[in-house]
Parts: sequence; structure tokens; C-alpha cells
Amino acid sequence: MPSVDVPVALLGYGTVGASVHRLLEEQGDEIERATGHRLRVVRALVRDADKERRFAPATGVLTTDPADVLGDSSLAIVAEVMGGVEPAGPYVLELLASGRSVVTANKQLVARRGAELFAAAASSGAQLRFEASVCAAIPVIKVLRESLVSTNVHKIVGIVNGTTNFVLSAMDEGRTYAQALAEAQELGYAEADPTDDVGGGDAAAKLAILSTVAFGSRVPLEWVAVEGIEGVTQEHVRAARALDMRVKLLARATLADGRVDARVGPAFVDVRHPLAAVEGPFNAVMLQGDAIREITLEGPGAGGIETASAVVADLVSIVGTTGTGFLQDDPVWHELERLPPGDLASPWYLRLEVEDRAGVLERLAHELASEGVSVARLVQQPVDGHATLHVVTHEAPAGRVDRALAAIRALPESRGDAIAIPVVSQRGVENLGWA
Ligand SMILES: NC(=O)c1ccc[n+]([C@@H]2O[C@H](COP(=O)([O-])OP(=O)(O)OC[C@H]3O[C@@H](n4cnc5c(N)ncnc54)[C@H](OP(=O)(O)O)[C@@H]3O)[C@@H](O)[C@H]2O)c1
Repeated sequence: MPSVDVPVALLGYGTVGASVHRLLEEQGDEIERATGHRLRVVRALVRDADKERRFAPATGVLTTDPADVLGDSSLAIVAEVMGGVEPAGPYVLELLASGRSVVTANKQLVARRGAELFAAAASSGAQLRFEASVCAAIPVIKVLRESLVSTNVHKIVGIVNGTTNFVLSAMDEGRTYAQALAEAQELGYAEADPTDDVGGGDAAAKLAILSTVAFGSRVPLEWVAVEGIEGVTQEHVRAARALDMRVKLLARATLADGRVDARVGPAFVDVRHPLAAVEGPFNAVMLQGDAIREITLEGPGAGGIETASAVVADLVSIVGTTGTGFLQDDPVWHELERLPPGDLASPWYLRLEVEDRAGVLERLAHELASEGVSVARLVQQPVDGHATLHVVTHEAPAGRVDRALAAIRALPESRGDAIAIPVVSQRGVENLGWA
């Protein structure tokens, strides 16, 4: 397939814009192999072209004159990553009205002016894509628009603001609201002026977009009832804990009897609910619908490269649906070899039954060690002259564990079967409890 060069312009070259350029450069070969298109950033609008830039573009790419992008009809695809409703709104409107497709990461713009922008896109045949405007790297818009098209999604419950989730997680560990917010600011999870996050405005814009897409009916930002986390105190956090719950800032939209309720506010969430386990700056969105029952998507909801990955995905979707249609083609573009099944490493739980007498533990340890399997945790339970051993190992390839178990089964002291079950844990096997 001959490669097609696609010039791309950026409105904004800040945290997200520079990362979009970086991804298109660093992943350019991958994108081209998969799509037959080489997306190149040829123009980027900024306020100050002389500012020092991370991942600086080539000379001549940065401009402070909007006409260099808006007036250049050879730039058929533009990513709006500058933020704000003015002047981003009029710029995007002009681009769409003139038939140029736009990808935006701007939740306030989509939530406030979505109707107008989509009308302009529809009348010119351009595309407006906005995955990055909600939960950055989590592809929730694509899932709602494409994967769940035949599912009547009637409820959305999400943690869609990482700053407030970080603050509430820190409060759950004992910090006051002020301490937790200061920590979020120090670590770069909160802006110097955090009003839009802690006041719930950011989450409200995302919920307006999510519910509009999910219900297929415009949910204006004004419909979203908003309460922030400024009033949450240690007393609330402790009361929630005592009741086996956690305080979270939830964004919830419900379709009830054909009518919409949308609200953002603090809620007590049962520790067993999937959203209770979403900690720190992470985001998660739970979708409930007739055919799917429940799907939860979780991941990083902010960050330059994370947001840029969604912008790039939208750019790729545009080039893949305008003429070439490669998104319908066989997705296979290269041939990978299969990893031999025994080679993948994992931590393991082993259950071994042996005679309860001196020297047996050493023999077991020797068989495990001779296959390079090292023990992280071990608990011994005596049962009727036998001992049942519960062992958690460090990471070891399945094939080596199988060989060690075969050797253990062959020991004269072995009783009953020896089994191995992979352990899935994100906190390291040393920290696992036995309860
Ligand atoms: N950062 C994140 O984690 C994240 C996550 C999700 C969504 N988003 C969204 O992505 C968008 C961009 O965010 P960001 O963090 O990349 O912002 P940023 O770092 O502040 O970058 C904004 C860029 O736009 C340019 N710009 C702003 N106003 C302009 C104007 N009037 N004329 C010309 N250029 C202008 C700035 O130029 P200068 O560089 O010259 O100042 C800068 O390059 C926002 O809509 C934001 O809500 C960001």
C-alpha cells in the first residue's frame, strides 16, 4: 500500500499538543504500517513562538497567527489542544464549516458548544471527534458510540476527575482537605487555581458529554447538578470508613422513564463497589445497559501523553474513514511468533501436601530452588500427620514451576497432589495477607 502523507495542524502546543507531536513522530512508523498514512505536524498555533518547548517542533512550525491554520485549506485535519471556549470555539467552528475535520481535547468547548459545532460539521461533511475531552486515555466515547450502539445504556456512574479523587484518597489516609489539596498541587495533580476541579465543573462538563453520547440526546451543561468536594471533612471520611464505605466524587447520569438526571457530587461508596477501589489520580466509568448489564472502564484520566494517545487515535480514525477505509480492512499487518506456553512468568500459589517430619521442607525448597523458583511466603498447616503447605512464589516461568512440582510429586515424602495457581496482584507478593 503506498503511503499517504497527511499534514496535520495543531491549535496549541502545550502539555497535550507537544505530546501529540511526540507520539506522531515516535510512533510514526507503527501508525504508517497500520494505516498507510504518515501524519505530520506541519503547523502549530501558540501564544508565544519564542517560548522554550518540550519536544520542540522544526523551525517554522510554530506560529502565533491563527490565519496560518484557519486560512490554509491544505490543512484538512486539525487537533484543537489549546483549551478554553474563546477563541478555541470560533476557530473550531470556522474549520468545521469549511469542511476541515477537527479532533478536540476540550471538554468545556464540547459540553458548551457541541450542538453548534456538530451542526457545522454535518453541513460541510467534516468530522468532529472528542475522545480526549473525557477521561483522557480511557476510550469511553468510542465504546459508547461504536461498541455499545445497540445497547440501551441507561446509567453512567463515574470517577471522572483525577484531582478530586487524589484529594479524597489522601483524606482517606488521614490528611485534612487543605493538606491533601496542597499535596495534589505539589505533585502536579492540581492546578494552582483548582476551582474547576474541586468545585465539580470539570466533572460536570465530562458528564454532560458522556450522557449526551450515551443517551443520544443533548444533555446541556446547565442540567448537571454540581456539588464539589470543598465541604468534605475528615468527619465524613471517618464516618464512611466506619460504615465500610469510601467518599468519592461521583458523576452520575440516569435515564429514568425517558428523562435524564445528571449530577456530580460527593457520595459514600461501598468498599465492594468497583469504584471504591479507584485510587489517586485514576478515572473509571461504569456503564449500565440492557444487553451489557455493566461494563467498567478504568485508567489514567489526565496527563500529556495519555491525553495525546486519545487525540492521535481520533486523528487515525479520521484518516481511516475518509476514503481509504482501512479501518474495515484485516487488522493483521505483521506476523508475531507464539511465546512457548511455559515461558511466561508469573507469581504462583502452590499447595503441597507432605509428610510432617524433619528435613521435608529443605527437600521441597531444594526442588523449587533447582528450577529457580523462589519462595516469597509460606504457611504450614499440620493435618493428621501430614502438613499442607501454602506457598506464594516470586515471579517464575510456568514451565519451571511445572518441573519443580513434578519433582516434588515424585518425592517419597509427598502426599496428595501438588497444585500451582497463578497469582494476580498489583502490590507485590510480599505484601499479600492470608485473610
Ligand atoms: N493536560 C492534561 O492532562 C489534559 C487532560 C485532558 C484534557 N486536556 C485538555 O487539553 C487541552 C490542552 O491542555 P494542555 O494541558 O495542553 O494546556 P496548556 O499546556 O496550557 O497548552 C495550551 C496551548 O495552547 C496555546 N494557546 C492557548 N491559548 C491560546 C490562544 N488564545 N492563541 C494561541 N495559542 C493559545 C498555548 O500557547 P503557549 O504555549 O504559547 O502559551 C499552549 O501552547 C485543554 O482543553 C485541556 O482541558 C488536558
